[in-house]
Amino acid sequence: MHRNTRIILGITGGIAAYKSPDLVRRLIERGAEVRVVMSRAAMEFITPLTLQAVSGHPVHQHLLDSDAESGMGHIELARWAEIILIAPATAHFMAKIVHGEADDLLSALVVASEATLAIAPAMNRQMWQNPATRHNLKTLVDRGVSIIGPGEGDQACGEVGVGRMTEPDEIAQQLLGDGIPQLFSGKKILVTAGPTWEAIDPVRGISNRSSGKMGFAIARAARDFGATVTMVRGPVNTTPPSGVECIGVQSARQMRDAVMSRVSGTDIFIGVAAVADYRPALQEDQKIKAKEPEIVLKLIKNPDILAEVAAREDRPFTVGFAAETRDLLANAKKKLWDKKIDVIVANDVSGEDGAIDNDTNAASLIHQTGVVQLERADKYRLAISILEKISVLMNPEPSTA
Ligand code: C5P
Repeated sequence: MHRNTRIILGITGGIAAYKSPDLVRRLIERGAEVRVVMSRAAMEFITPLTLQAVSGHPVHQHLLDSDAESGMGHIELARWAEIILIAPATAHFMAKIVHGEADDLLSALVVASEATLAIAPAMNRQMWQNPATRHNLKTLVDRGVSIIGPGEGDQACGEVGVGRMTEPDEIAQQLLGDGIPQLFSGKKILVTAGPTWEAIDPVRGISNRSSGKMGFAIARAARDFGATVTMVRGPVNTTPPSGVECIGVQSARQMRDAVMSRVSGTDIFIGVAAVADYRPALQEDQKIKAKEPEIVLKLIKNPDILAEVAAREDRPFTVGFAAETRDLLANAKKKLWDKKIDVIVANDVSGEDGAIDNDTNAASLIHQTGVVQLERADKYRLAISILEKISVLMNPEPSTA
Protein backbone atom coordinates (compact mmCIF):
# COMPACT_ATOMS: atom_id res chain seq x y z
CA MET A 1 0.00 0.00 0.00
CA HIS A 2 1.23 3.50 -0.72
CA ARG A 3 0.90 6.67 1.23
CA ASN A 4 -2.24 8.78 0.62
CA THR A 5 -4.31 5.62 0.37
CA ARG A 6 -7.96 6.69 0.33
CA ILE A 7 -9.92 4.82 2.95
CA ILE A 8 -13.58 4.81 3.86
CA LEU A 9 -13.89 3.82 7.48
CA GLY A 10 -17.33 2.34 8.03
CA ILE A 11 -18.37 2.21 11.68
CA THR A 12 -21.21 -0.10 12.68
CA GLY A 13 -23.02 -0.37 16.00
CA GLY A 14 -20.78 -2.19 18.45
CA ILE A 15 -19.30 -0.99 21.72
CA ALA A 16 -15.85 -1.06 20.09
CA ALA A 17 -17.01 1.99 18.09
CA TYR A 18 -15.59 4.07 20.93
CA LYS A 19 -12.14 3.15 19.58
CA SER A 20 -12.90 4.59 16.14
CA PRO A 21 -11.35 8.04 16.70
CA ASP A 22 -8.09 6.33 17.64
CA LEU A 23 -8.35 4.17 14.53
CA VAL A 24 -8.84 7.25 12.34
CA ARG A 25 -5.71 8.79 13.87
CA ARG A 26 -3.68 5.62 13.35
CA LEU A 27 -4.71 5.46 9.69
CA ILE A 28 -3.92 9.14 9.10
CA GLU A 29 -0.59 8.72 10.91
CA ARG A 30 0.33 6.16 8.28
CA GLY A 31 -0.42 8.62 5.53
CA ALA A 32 -3.99 7.57 4.66
CA GLU A 33 -6.82 9.94 3.72
CA VAL A 34 -9.89 8.92 5.69
CA ARG A 35 -13.60 9.58 5.23
CA VAL A 36 -15.96 8.20 7.83
CA VAL A 37 -19.35 6.61 7.21
CA MET A 38 -21.47 5.62 10.21
CA SER A 39 -24.42 3.29 10.48
CA ARG A 40 -27.42 4.47 12.47
CA ALA A 41 -26.60 2.14 15.36
CA ALA A 42 -22.97 3.36 15.47
CA MET A 43 -24.29 6.79 16.41
CA GLU A 44 -25.69 5.31 19.63
CA PHE A 45 -22.08 4.69 20.69
CA ILE A 46 -20.16 7.67 19.37
CA THR A 47 -21.07 10.99 17.80
CA PRO A 48 -20.38 11.99 14.18
CA LEU A 49 -18.93 15.26 15.49
CA THR A 50 -16.06 13.43 17.18
CA LEU A 51 -15.25 11.55 13.99
CA GLN A 52 -15.55 14.75 11.96
CA ALA A 53 -13.03 16.40 14.27
CA VAL A 54 -10.43 13.63 14.02
CA SER A 55 -10.87 12.93 10.29
CA GLY A 56 -11.13 16.59 9.31
CA HIS A 57 -14.12 15.86 7.03
CA PRO A 58 -17.89 15.72 7.49
CA VAL A 59 -19.14 12.28 8.43
CA HIS A 60 -21.43 10.57 5.94
CA GLN A 61 -24.53 9.05 7.49
CA HIS A 62 -27.49 8.82 5.14
CA LEU A 63 -28.05 7.23 1.78
CA LEU A 64 -30.64 9.73 0.68
CA ASP A 65 -29.35 13.02 2.02
CA SER A 66 -29.63 15.85 -0.49
CA ASP A 67 -26.90 17.92 1.21
CA ALA A 68 -24.45 15.05 1.23
CA GLU A 69 -25.32 14.06 -2.32
CA SER A 70 -24.57 17.58 -3.52
CA GLY A 71 -21.13 17.28 -1.84
CA MET A 72 -19.59 13.86 -2.28
CA GLY A 73 -22.53 11.66 -3.18
CA HIS A 74 -22.57 7.97 -2.46
CA ILE A 75 -21.47 6.89 -5.91
CA GLU A 76 -18.62 9.38 -5.90
CA LEU A 77 -17.63 8.17 -2.45
CA ALA A 78 -17.72 4.57 -3.65
CA ARG A 79 -15.41 5.49 -6.55
CA TRP A 80 -13.13 7.61 -4.35
CA ALA A 81 -12.27 4.78 -1.96
CA GLU A 82 -9.32 2.47 -2.48
CA ILE A 83 -10.12 0.58 0.69
CA ILE A 84 -13.36 0.21 2.59
CA LEU A 85 -12.59 -0.78 6.16
CA ILE A 86 -15.51 -1.76 8.38
CA ALA A 87 -14.44 -1.47 12.01
CA PRO A 88 -16.09 -2.51 14.17
CA ALA A 89 -18.06 -4.89 11.96
CA THR A 90 -21.05 -6.36 13.83
CA ALA A 91 -22.49 -9.83 13.20
CA HIS A 92 -25.48 -8.07 11.67
CA PHE A 93 -23.40 -6.06 9.25
CA MET A 94 -21.44 -9.14 8.19
CA ALA A 95 -24.77 -10.84 7.41
CA LYS A 96 -25.90 -7.80 5.43
CA ILE A 97 -22.87 -7.70 3.17
CA VAL A 98 -23.01 -11.44 2.60
CA HIS A 99 -26.46 -10.88 1.13
CA GLY A 100 -25.55 -7.74 -0.79
CA GLU A 101 -28.13 -5.67 1.02
CA ALA A 102 -27.91 -1.97 0.26
CA ASP A 103 -30.52 -0.32 2.45
CA ASP A 104 -28.25 2.21 4.12
CA LEU A 105 -25.26 4.27 3.03
CA LEU A 106 -22.52 1.97 4.29
CA SER A 107 -23.94 -1.26 2.90
CA ALA A 108 -24.75 0.51 -0.38
CA LEU A 109 -21.14 1.67 -0.63
CA VAL A 110 -19.89 -1.88 -0.13
CA VAL A 111 -22.12 -3.05 -2.98
CA ALA A 112 -21.32 -0.09 -5.23
CA SER A 113 -17.56 0.09 -4.80
CA GLU A 114 -14.68 -1.78 -6.36
CA ALA A 115 -12.48 -0.90 -3.38
CA THR A 116 -10.66 -3.56 -1.38
CA LEU A 117 -12.92 -4.58 1.47
CA ALA A 118 -11.52 -5.27 4.93
CA ILE A 119 -13.51 -5.92 8.08
CA ALA A 120 -12.54 -5.96 11.75
CA PRO A 121 -15.33 -7.94 13.44
CA ALA A 122 -16.28 -7.18 17.04
CA MET A 123 -18.98 -9.01 18.91
CA ASN A 124 -19.84 -11.15 21.90
CA ARG A 125 -18.03 -14.52 21.77
CA GLN A 126 -21.28 -16.51 21.36
CA MET A 127 -22.26 -14.38 18.39
CA TRP A 128 -18.82 -14.97 16.87
CA GLN A 129 -19.20 -18.76 17.36
CA ASN A 130 -22.76 -18.85 16.04
CA PRO A 131 -23.06 -21.10 12.95
CA ALA A 132 -24.66 -18.27 10.95
CA THR A 133 -21.71 -15.98 11.68
CA ARG A 134 -19.25 -18.80 10.88
CA HIS A 135 -21.03 -19.34 7.58
CA ASN A 136 -20.99 -15.61 6.77
CA LEU A 137 -17.32 -15.38 7.68
CA LYS A 138 -16.48 -18.25 5.35
CA THR A 139 -18.44 -16.64 2.52
CA LEU A 140 -16.60 -13.35 3.01
CA VAL A 141 -13.19 -15.06 3.13
CA ASP A 142 -14.08 -16.96 -0.06
CA ARG A 143 -14.93 -13.64 -1.70
CA GLY A 144 -11.48 -12.29 -0.84
CA VAL A 145 -12.55 -9.95 1.94
CA SER A 146 -9.66 -9.29 4.38
CA ILE A 147 -10.61 -10.24 7.92
CA ILE A 148 -8.69 -8.47 10.69
CA GLY A 149 -9.09 -10.19 14.05
CA PRO A 150 -11.09 -10.47 16.19
CA GLY A 151 -8.84 -10.98 19.21
CA GLU A 152 -9.34 -12.81 22.45
CA GLY A 153 -9.79 -11.23 25.86
CA ASP A 154 -12.20 -9.42 28.16
CA GLN A 155 -15.41 -8.38 26.46
CA ALA A 156 -17.64 -5.42 27.19
CA CYS A 157 -20.39 -7.84 28.23
CA GLY A 158 -18.18 -9.17 31.05
CA GLU A 159 -17.37 -12.43 29.29
CA VAL A 160 -13.95 -13.58 28.13
CA GLY A 161 -13.37 -15.08 24.71
CA VAL A 162 -12.86 -14.41 21.02
CA GLY A 163 -14.72 -11.41 19.66
CA ARG A 164 -12.80 -8.32 20.79
CA MET A 165 -12.02 -5.89 18.03
CA THR A 166 -8.32 -5.87 17.16
CA GLU A 167 -6.62 -2.78 18.61
CA PRO A 168 -6.73 0.26 16.30
CA ASP A 169 -2.99 0.45 15.81
CA GLU A 170 -2.84 -3.19 14.89
CA ILE A 171 -5.68 -2.77 12.37
CA ALA A 172 -3.87 0.18 10.80
CA GLN A 173 -0.64 -1.81 10.75
CA GLN A 174 -2.25 -4.81 9.07
CA LEU A 175 -3.92 -2.59 6.51
CA LEU A 176 -1.11 -0.13 5.77
CA GLY A 177 2.00 -1.66 7.30
CA ASP A 178 3.76 -1.76 3.96
CA GLY A 179 3.10 1.94 3.56
CA ILE A 180 6.01 2.66 5.87
CA PRO A 181 9.36 2.59 4.06
CA GLN A 182 11.15 -0.60 5.01
CA LEU A 183 14.25 1.27 6.19
CA PHE A 184 15.43 -1.59 8.37
CA SER A 185 14.39 -4.55 6.27
CA GLY A 186 16.79 -7.44 6.94
CA LYS A 187 18.17 -5.70 10.05
CA LYS A 188 18.10 -7.06 13.58
CA ILE A 189 17.27 -4.58 16.32
CA LEU A 190 17.53 -5.30 20.03
CA VAL A 191 15.67 -2.98 22.41
CA THR A 192 15.52 -2.77 26.20
CA ALA A 193 12.42 -1.28 27.82
CA GLY A 194 10.83 -0.51 31.16
CA PRO A 195 12.34 -0.28 34.63
CA THR A 196 14.26 -2.98 36.48
CA TRP A 197 13.36 -4.37 39.89
CA GLU A 198 16.15 -4.84 42.39
CA ALA A 199 14.96 -7.09 45.19
CA ILE A 200 15.68 -6.31 48.83
CA ASP A 201 13.80 -9.37 50.05
CA PRO A 202 11.09 -11.58 48.45
CA VAL A 203 8.45 -8.84 48.62
CA ARG A 204 10.36 -5.54 48.65
CA GLY A 205 12.60 -3.93 46.13
CA ILE A 206 13.90 -0.80 44.42
CA SER A 207 12.55 0.29 41.07
CA ASN A 208 11.67 3.49 39.22
CA ARG A 209 8.69 5.11 37.48
CA SER A 210 9.50 4.05 33.91
CA SER A 211 6.29 2.80 32.21
CA GLY A 212 8.06 1.09 29.30
CA LYS A 213 5.96 3.11 26.82
CA MET A 214 8.92 4.67 25.00
CA GLY A 215 10.75 1.35 24.67
CA PHE A 216 7.58 -0.35 23.42
CA ALA A 217 7.04 2.48 20.91
CA ILE A 218 10.62 2.06 19.63
CA ALA A 219 10.09 -1.70 19.27
CA ARG A 220 6.81 -1.14 17.39
CA ALA A 221 8.26 1.49 15.10
CA ALA A 222 11.31 -0.70 14.37
CA ARG A 223 8.95 -3.56 13.49
CA ASP A 224 6.94 -1.26 11.22
CA PHE A 225 10.17 -0.21 9.47
CA GLY A 226 10.72 -3.87 8.60
CA ALA A 227 13.31 -4.88 11.23
CA THR A 228 13.37 -8.16 13.13
CA VAL A 229 12.92 -6.90 16.65
CA THR A 230 13.74 -8.43 20.01
CA MET A 231 12.77 -6.60 23.17
CA VAL A 232 14.08 -7.33 26.64
CA ARG A 233 11.74 -5.68 29.09
CA GLY A 234 11.67 -5.11 32.81
CA PRO A 235 8.45 -5.47 34.85
CA VAL A 236 5.65 -3.50 33.12
CA ASN A 237 1.98 -4.24 32.50
CA THR A 238 1.80 -3.09 28.90
CA THR A 239 1.01 -5.75 26.25
CA PRO A 240 3.99 -6.19 23.95
CA PRO A 241 3.55 -5.26 20.29
CA SER A 242 2.74 -8.22 18.07
CA GLY A 243 5.51 -9.53 15.87
CA VAL A 244 8.20 -8.57 18.38
CA GLU A 245 10.05 -11.25 20.33
CA CYS A 246 9.70 -10.21 23.93
CA ILE A 247 11.78 -11.45 26.87
CA GLY A 248 10.59 -10.47 30.33
CA VAL A 249 13.17 -9.95 33.11
CA GLN A 250 13.19 -8.38 36.55
CA SER A 251 16.65 -7.22 37.60
CA ALA A 252 19.44 -5.32 35.82
CA ARG A 253 21.64 -8.39 35.95
CA GLN A 254 18.95 -10.52 34.32
CA MET A 255 18.50 -7.80 31.69
CA ARG A 256 22.24 -7.76 31.09
CA ASP A 257 22.36 -11.54 30.64
CA ALA A 258 19.33 -11.54 28.32
CA VAL A 259 20.91 -8.77 26.21
CA MET A 260 24.40 -10.29 26.10
CA SER A 261 23.13 -13.68 25.02
CA ARG A 262 21.30 -12.06 22.08
CA VAL A 263 23.44 -9.13 21.00
CA SER A 264 25.75 -11.01 18.66
CA GLY A 265 24.56 -10.52 15.06
CA THR A 266 22.45 -7.51 16.06
CA ASP A 267 22.70 -4.46 13.80
CA ILE A 268 21.30 -1.89 16.22
CA PHE A 269 21.03 -1.90 20.01
CA ILE A 270 18.69 0.65 21.57
CA GLY A 271 18.83 0.84 25.36
CA VAL A 272 15.60 2.54 26.36
CA ALA A 273 15.24 0.76 29.70
CA ALA A 274 15.60 2.76 32.88
CA VAL A 275 18.08 0.29 34.33
CA ALA A 276 18.58 0.71 38.07
CA ASP A 277 22.09 2.04 38.58
CA TYR A 278 22.35 0.34 41.99
CA ARG A 279 21.04 -2.80 43.66
CA PRO A 280 21.03 -3.88 47.30
CA ALA A 281 24.36 -5.50 48.18
CA LEU A 282 22.48 -8.30 49.92
CA GLN A 283 19.15 -9.86 49.04
CA GLU A 284 17.42 -11.50 51.97
CA ASP A 285 15.82 -14.89 51.32
CA GLN A 286 13.10 -14.24 53.88
CA LYS A 287 10.95 -11.16 54.37
CA ILE A 288 12.74 -8.68 56.62
CA LYS A 289 10.86 -8.25 59.91
CA ALA A 290 10.09 -4.63 60.76
CA LYS A 291 11.38 -4.78 64.29
CA GLU A 292 14.48 -2.53 64.14
CA PRO A 293 14.03 1.27 64.55
CA GLU A 294 16.29 1.75 61.52
CA ILE A 295 18.08 -0.41 59.01
CA VAL A 296 20.91 0.48 56.64
CA LEU A 297 20.64 -0.58 53.04
CA LYS A 298 23.94 -0.88 51.23
CA LEU A 299 23.73 -0.43 47.47
CA ILE A 300 26.25 -1.55 44.91
CA LYS A 301 26.60 -0.60 41.25
CA ASN A 302 24.82 -2.61 38.58
CA PRO A 303 26.46 -3.56 35.30
CA ASP A 304 26.14 -0.83 32.64
CA ILE A 305 24.49 -2.78 29.83
CA LEU A 306 24.77 -0.01 27.25
CA ALA A 307 28.47 0.59 27.88
CA GLU A 308 29.12 -3.14 27.79
CA VAL A 309 27.37 -3.51 24.43
CA ALA A 310 29.27 -0.51 23.04
CA ALA A 311 32.61 -1.97 24.20
CA ARG A 312 32.17 -5.24 22.28
CA GLU A 313 34.38 -5.93 19.31
CA ASP A 314 31.32 -6.82 17.24
CA ARG A 315 29.44 -3.79 18.59
CA PRO A 316 26.14 -2.95 16.90
CA PHE A 317 25.19 0.67 16.19
CA THR A 318 24.48 1.64 19.79
CA VAL A 319 21.81 4.05 20.98
CA GLY A 320 21.12 5.13 24.55
CA PHE A 321 18.50 7.23 26.26
CA ALA A 322 19.28 9.79 28.91
CA ALA A 323 16.64 10.95 31.36
CA GLU A 324 17.75 14.17 32.99
CA THR A 325 16.21 16.68 35.36
CA ARG A 326 18.77 19.43 34.67
CA ASP A 327 21.57 20.41 32.25
CA LEU A 328 19.95 18.07 29.73
CA LEU A 329 22.31 18.52 26.79
CA ALA A 330 25.56 18.75 28.73
CA ASN A 331 24.79 15.63 30.79
CA ALA A 332 23.58 13.68 27.79
CA LYS A 333 26.66 14.60 25.72
CA LYS A 334 28.89 13.44 28.54
CA LYS A 335 27.08 10.08 28.51
CA LEU A 336 27.55 9.78 24.76
CA TRP A 337 31.31 10.13 25.20
CA ASP A 338 31.68 8.19 28.47
CA LYS A 339 29.72 5.18 27.25
CA LYS A 340 31.24 5.46 23.74
CA ILE A 341 27.90 5.09 22.00
CA ASP A 342 26.73 6.41 18.62
CA VAL A 343 23.56 8.26 19.59
CA ILE A 344 21.91 9.41 22.78
CA VAL A 345 18.29 10.52 22.98
CA ALA A 346 17.92 13.00 25.80
CA ASN A 347 14.62 13.45 27.63
CA ASP A 348 13.74 16.04 30.18
CA VAL A 349 12.00 14.15 32.99
CA SER A 350 11.38 17.15 35.23
CA GLY A 351 7.93 18.71 35.68
CA GLU A 352 4.45 17.60 34.64
CA ASP A 353 5.30 17.29 30.94
CA GLY A 354 8.31 15.09 31.71
CA ALA A 355 8.85 11.90 29.75
CA ILE A 356 8.07 9.38 32.47
CA ASP A 357 4.69 7.63 32.16
CA ASN A 358 3.49 10.28 29.71
CA ASP A 359 1.98 9.39 26.34
CA THR A 360 3.83 12.20 24.63
CA ASN A 361 7.44 13.17 24.76
CA ALA A 362 9.93 15.63 23.28
CA ALA A 363 13.63 14.84 22.94
CA SER A 364 17.02 15.94 21.69
CA LEU A 365 18.90 13.41 19.62
CA ILE A 366 22.65 13.84 20.06
CA HIS A 367 25.15 12.14 17.77
CA GLN A 368 28.89 12.44 17.33
CA THR A 369 28.69 15.59 15.22
CA GLY A 370 25.44 17.33 16.09
CA VAL A 371 22.13 17.66 17.87
CA VAL A 372 18.62 17.28 16.41
CA GLN A 373 15.59 18.60 18.30
CA LEU A 374 12.56 16.32 18.07
CA GLU A 375 9.24 18.07 18.64
CA ARG A 376 6.75 16.86 21.24
CA ALA A 377 4.70 14.03 19.76
CA ASP A 378 3.11 10.81 20.90
CA LYS A 379 5.77 8.26 21.72
CA TYR A 380 5.18 6.22 18.56
CA ARG A 381 5.64 9.29 16.33
CA LEU A 382 8.74 10.22 18.26
CA ALA A 383 10.05 6.66 17.86
CA ILE A 384 9.50 6.94 14.09
CA SER A 385 11.52 10.20 14.00
CA ILE A 386 14.32 8.68 16.10
CA LEU A 387 14.59 5.63 13.85
CA GLU A 388 14.49 7.74 10.68
CA LYS A 389 17.41 9.75 12.02
CA ILE A 390 19.31 6.59 13.01
CA SER A 391 18.86 5.28 9.47
CA VAL A 392 20.35 8.49 8.05
CA LEU A 393 23.31 8.35 10.46
CA MET A 394 23.99 4.71 9.58
CA ASN A 395 23.79 5.36 5.86
CA PRO A 396 25.37 8.76 5.27
CA GLU A 397 24.85 10.19 1.78
CA PRO A 398 28.06 9.94 -0.24
CA SER A 399 29.82 13.30 -0.25
CA THR A 400 29.56 15.17 -3.56
CA ALA A 401 32.64 17.30 -2.81
O1 C5P B 1 23.85 6.63 32.94
P1 C5P B 1 22.37 6.57 32.74
O2 C5P B 1 21.70 5.53 33.58
O3 C5P B 1 21.66 7.88 32.85
O4 C5P B 1 22.26 6.17 31.19
C1 C5P B 1 21.05 5.89 30.60
C2 C5P B 1 21.26 4.96 29.45
O5 C5P B 1 22.12 3.89 29.82
C3 C5P B 1 19.98 4.31 29.00
O6 C5P B 1 20.07 4.06 27.62
C4 C5P B 1 19.96 3.01 29.79
O7 C5P B 1 19.20 2.01 29.13
C5 C5P B 1 21.43 2.67 29.85
N1 C5P B 1 21.85 1.97 31.07
C6 C5P B 1 22.24 0.65 31.02
N2 C5P B 1 22.67 0.00 32.14
C7 C5P B 1 22.73 0.66 33.32
C8 C5P B 1 22.34 2.01 33.39
C9 C5P B 1 21.90 2.63 32.25
O8 C5P B 1 22.18 0.04 29.94
N3 C5P B 1 23.14 0.02 34.39
